Amino acid sequence: MTRQEIREKFLKFFEEREHKIIPSSSLLPNDPSVLFTTAGMQQFKPYYTNQADAMRDFGSLNAASIQKCVRTSDIDEVGDERHLTFFEMLGNFSFGGYFKKEAIAYAHEFITKEMGLKIDYVSVFGGENPSTSSGQVIPADDESEQIWKSLDPNIVVKKFGRADNFWGPTGEEGPCGPTTEIYVNPSTDGSGQAVEIWNIVFNQYYCRPPSREASEGQARLEKLASPGIDTGMGLERLAMVSQKVPTVFEADLLKPILTLTPSGLEMRVKRIIADHSRAIAFMIADGIRPSNKEQGYVLRRLMRRIITYNFIAKTDITLMHDIFAKILEIYGNYYKELNADLIINEFERENEKFQQTLKHGLRELEKTENIDAVSAFRLYESFGLPYEIIKELGGIKTSALSRESFDAKFKEHQEKSRASSEKKFGGHGLVLDTGELKAGNEEELKKVTGLHTATHLLQAALRKLLGDEITQAGSDITAERLRFDFSFPRKLTPEEIKSVEDEVNGAIKADYAVTRQAMSYEEALKTGALHFFKAKYPDSVDVYSIGTDNMTFSKEFCGGPHVTHTGEIGRFKITKEEAVSAGVRRIRATIE
Ligand code: ALA
Repeated sequence: MTRQEIREKFLKFFEEREHKIIPSSSLLPNDPSVLFTTAGMQQFKPYYTNQADAMRDFGSLNAASIQKCVRTSDIDEVGDERHLTFFEMLGNFSFGGYFKKEAIAYAHEFITKEMGLKIDYVSVFGGENPSTSSGQVIPADDESEQIWKSLDPNIVVKKFGRADNFWGPTGEEGPCGPTTEIYVNPSTDGSGQAVEIWNIVFNQYYCRPPSREASEGQARLEKLASPGIDTGMGLERLAMVSQKVPTVFEADLLKPILTLTPSGLEMRVKRIIADHSRAIAFMIADGIRPSNKEQGYVLRRLMRRIITYNFIAKTDITLMHDIFAKILEIYGNYYKELNADLIINEFERENEKFQQTLKHGLRELEKTENIDAVSAFRLYESFGLPYEIIKELGGIKTSALSRESFDAKFKEHQEKSRASSEKKFGGHGLVLDTGELKAGNEEELKKVTGLHTATHLLQAALRKLLGDEITQAGSDITAERLRFDFSFPRKLTPEEIKSVEDEVNGAIKADYAVTRQAMSYEEALKTGALHFFKAKYPDSVDVYSIGTDNMTFSKEFCGGPHVTHTGEIGRFKITKEEAVSAGVRRIRATIE
């Protein structure tokens, strides 16, 4: 059965059984508790809790959909036979309409009769006693077992615990409950491993996390007033078992993409490229753009991973254009929001940016002798070089370097920064808080680092255009914006603001190197580096210079951190100029 036949069959089956067909919602959910839409039920959450009325909105208590989903939790698994970041989820839902008996009967009929598949086994929730995580007795789901047996006396029913057969937001608030799952073997002779294809959730509880004050307490499960049904079946997996192929990558949703990946690459990498390019296409279609934050950061990671593999294999990156065109061919009819030109443009832009990072990083790589985990991690941390590139292009110099040793360094670093931030900030989770810069995690750290260097450029640009009497009166940087206070007697004109912006963007475009020099306070004063006159400095200070060998754009006393090259910053934009007090102005600016 082709991908499109399966989609149609599924929707028709449930439409005939009084389900309203609802279109997929965006990958960007309304729900702030998640970055991406990860399941079909997401858009229906309020209907389970009676905050919205399904009868009024859909004219039915039952719905079915094919939902675009992105899950990043499995990102490291991608490359094996069945894990994906992007997938389509077929789901039927009921908000106080039918419950276990009908839900199981529908699933059984659809899989065995409509799809003509043999169920290898099903699983049901085996119960949980109070000694385990929730501290609450949750009874085993014997009812579901009985229902399965009544449909097929020979069916194999396995009982699993909470990790496998209970669905709901871990530790967070929302509807949840026991599940039953259907497993099908993709191989015709039953020799392969059975794959979980359908998860049927019985939403009978509402998970209420402990209040903030009582953060040590356990989440409580409260009975929902009207229990509901939430199911999810991955289209890729269903296509895999229906088309009797051993991996999701050989079914007709991914095979045509996989075929286009560079031939010299190992299969794991080919699969990663096929998976990630699909996720990239759909994310861009839903308005996500690469950035250093949240969804944009995930998109950037996916893009950079592909670029890295292509770089190593020395493939012409325009090959990605063919891949994106193929994605349009496979999905364009069904998902009208996909736009090949837009996807290719965004990919190209990120490619150019990342090539800059790679260029600087490779220069550094060449200079480094004997690359072990310590120096490899430095290349990654300071110059953005991914492990794969260091290993591949470092050649013989990296013989002492292994993935394990690199990962160990990475972990050590994470633990150190967590420990030190906990020590400094009483466990409030700030990775960085210098008073001027505040970042809560690694992503924010990247963002504030760029904004910090942009603050130096801003001060230099202001002095260049408005005169040397401008001095810094204060600075505050969060992941969203920079704020810079400076002495100046009057409001800036719109033209002046524009010139300052252009000057900073010019310096960003010039991709100046940012260099740090440690020197004595006396020496630093002599270099003419900008500093606060009133501030107390230690005997040895760091001076950060931005510019070329022949031209210094900016030079300041500073504790860092900064980007290594201004090109990494992004587009600079002044969002506000206002007075703070007589003779002091404040500029707010962002980077995109
Ligand atoms: N919401 C359930 C899942 O994602 C169906 O598995």
